[in-house]
Amino acid sequence: MDIKDLFKDIKDYENKEIVLEGWVRNNRNQSNFGFIDFNDGTYFKSLQLVYDKELKDFDKISKIKVGSALRVKGTLVKSQGSGQSHEVKVSEVEVLGDCTDDYPIQPKRHTREFLREVAYLRPRTNLFNAVFRVRSVAAHAIHEYFQSHNYVYFHSPIITGADCEGSGQMFKLTTLDMDNLPLTEDKKVDYKKDLFGKKAYITGSGQLHGETFALAYKKIYTFGPTMRTENSNTKTHANEFWMIEPEIAFCDLNGIMDIEEEMLKYIVKYVMDKCPLEIDFFDQFVEKGLKDKLNKVLNSEFVRITHHDAITLLKEAKVDWEFTPEYGEDIAKEHEKYITEYFNGPVFITDWPKDIKAFYMKLNDDGKTVAAVDLEVPGAGELIGGSQREDDYDKLIQRMKEMNIPLENLDWYTNLRRFGGCYHGGFGLGFERLIMYLTGVDNIRDVIPYPRTPNNCDY
Ligand code: 4AD
Ligand code: MG
Repeated sequence: MDIKDLFKDIKDYENKEIVLEGWVRNNRNQSNFGFIDFNDGTYFKSLQLVYDKELKDFDKISKIKVGSALRVKGTLVKSQGSGQSHEVKVSEVEVLGDCTDDYPIQPKRHTREFLREVAYLRPRTNLFNAVFRVRSVAAHAIHEYFQSHNYVYFHSPIITGADCEGSGQMFKLTTLDMDNLPLTEDKKVDYKKDLFGKKAYITGSGQLHGETFALAYKKIYTFGPTMRTENSNTKTHANEFWMIEPEIAFCDLNGIMDIEEEMLKYIVKYVMDKCPLEIDFFDQFVEKGLKDKLNKVLNSEFVRITHHDAITLLKEAKVDWEFTPEYGEDIAKEHEKYITEYFNGPVFITDWPKDIKAFYMKLNDDGKTVAAVDLEVPGAGELIGGSQREDDYDKLIQRMKEMNIPLENLDWYTNLRRFGGCYHGGFGLGFERLIMYLTGVDNIRDVIPYPRTPNNCDY
């Protein structure tokens, strides 16, 4: 049986014989008895196994190494020791897989940097076991939120010819022989000879395709892997990450913010309800005050401030900035940090200068800003980026020309404005940054199972 199920109805199993399969986290013994910390992965806490000299295999059991896989038969009893309510009095132990002495995960504190080097074993530690369970539960919460609010889960293509963010940050995908590239007469690579007969990329966002489905289903969301080539060595950037991209027809910028806030509160509550042991652990060992922070998210209204007013706030702050805040310019990491700390919680920054944002964002009446919103949170920085989309055909085409976005590849996208177009918007939630926020873990490399970052593609 699963240890998770055992703990669900633990009283029902008292004084009953049970059989468990799992791994040894620790094995401590004295001459007459010993304890094994036993974990089958279904439950955060390890279960204590007690064995004593009466067992004919006592010597063999006391030599079982940390990391070994066991099948254990025993009786669940109330524990006499402190630290746990119940324990298993062992009657039989079968070693299903023993473990060599060089097993890297020993019962002591390992640094996160070291554990990254043994990423294939790190889910067997408390920290990573908790992180990746929260990741799984948060994914479920996201589906549940959208499914229960009439959204259709839309699978955007991974291979695409369209560059959504228009920033050229996409991986190229080809079957051409790199050492022997076919060339055109003017000595350029002849992509007509490639598998798709043209240049292809791995997606950096499903948004543009998402808009096509939103204009049929009203509300859709994507949830899938996203790849970007940015060479950023920061704690919040990875080259492969997961993104959730809802897109909603008949929705303006304020509506987008309402949805973001409601969704985020739903996820936070869901994870706190389903993972109380994990959240307690993070609160105690990873980010002191995490629970208060999350409870505050549930019970407060998120601040909404324009980019212009945010810059004013930064300029008035008595801080010696590395990058001077300027109207019309982007907001640096240090500024994000100041703003979220100033308001002590998530902050929506709206109405960004058009020149630093993507081509598809709706131009405001001032002609200078766009109806965009970033949600900034303490720790993870920009958690969500979204906008109302430009639904005016002529304005969109003009903006694309100004920004040198090739029109011919995106006629299907611009046509949406001609065929029953409507005001609509959406956003992209970075799933890893959400997990960082929920757990307090401050490096993106520690919330994705096998991180891909510049110069790192191990495993
Ligand atoms: O702000 P971004 O680039 O927005 C888009 O891609 C839009 N198409 C979204 C939309 O409106 N549908 O990315 C959205 C979010 C960011 O706020 C951030 O949380 C995350 O994706 N993100 C990254 N996370 C990890 N590593 C990276 N390199 C990331 N780049 C963006
Ligand atoms: Mg962004």
